[in-house]
Amino acid sequence: MAKSTPLTHFQTLTYSRRSTREFTDTSVAPEVIDEIIQDALTAPSWSNTRPYRVAVATGEVKDRISAKLLGRFDEIMLARSKKWTDRVKGFAKALSLLRSDFRIPVVYPEDLRRRQIDLAKALYGHLGVERSDVEGRNNFIRDNMRFFGAPVGLFFFARTGMGVYSALDAGHFMQTLMLAAKARGLDTCAQGFLAFWSKPIREEFDVPRGYKLLCGMSLGYAADSHINLFFPPATSGQELVLGAHERGGGEAPSPRDEVRVGP
Ligand SMILES: Cc1cc2nc3c(=O)[nH]c(=O)nc-3n(C[C@H](O)[C@H](O)[C@H](O)COP(=O)(O)O)c2cc1C
Repeated sequence: MAKSTPLTHFQTLTYSRRSTREFTDTSVAPEVIDEIIQDALTAPSWSNTRPYRVAVATGEVKDRISAKLLGRFDEIMLARSKKWTDRVKGFAKALSLLRSDFRIPVVYPEDLRRRQIDLAKALYGHLGVERSDVEGRNNFIRDNMRFFGAPVGLFFFARTGMGVYSALDAGHFMQTLMLAAKARGLDTCAQGFLAFWSKPIREEFDVPRGYKLLCGMSLGYAADSHINLFFPPATSGQELVLGAHERGGGEAPSPRDEVRVGP
């Protein structure tokens, strides 16, 4: 960050948060987790509805979830490696296992795809995983499902019936939680990979009707390791700030956004 004036407290905190992908096994005291969640509730919310829930997985619960996610993932990988007749059967089985609550983006919109590719190239390059190294990439996904070794896994559920706005609120909550953790010397990684299957999490927690698994997160103390030295490609504010029209021109907005939440 290029800055000539001293950093504010906020800048020191927010620039120090990075997605952390290897944790020590040092446990996090339950009261610290409670405090972080309480702090995260300083996030704003649509009509103050708080349309989300969070599940905290530690110990055996976390290990069971991890084992089930890994099992499902490996089943898909096994299906891919078989001869085609078995493959078809394997894929059918794997597809029946693929049950995310929200649609996971597979093909990215054209204007965002570049950033996704740049991130993947930079991250796998940092890890020394070649583009052709399928097993290396799969191992990274497996590490995701092991919570990168973190002692705490969090799962965020968003209320249906609010369109995109419950997910928006959950995002405010998640980011505030990540900063609250950072302020206590703890690190995090938000993880879409932990939301590919909701059943293993639903089997452990009483998820109320109308709540869908949106995202997972690892929480713990960062390990002093190579992967945690990774910095993603930077985005400048200029890329995102819209220019103003001269007068009158511009595309008419589409009547409704195409973003779909829910299957
Ligand atoms: C909703 C969401 C889902 C994410 N899912 C994953 C994931 O499954 N695995 C992973 O390693 N990182 C995941 N990330 C981390 C992003 O890759 C990361 O935030 C981005 O590259 C910017 O890096 P930074 O968090 O270090 O600033 C996710 C982030 C968000 C916000």
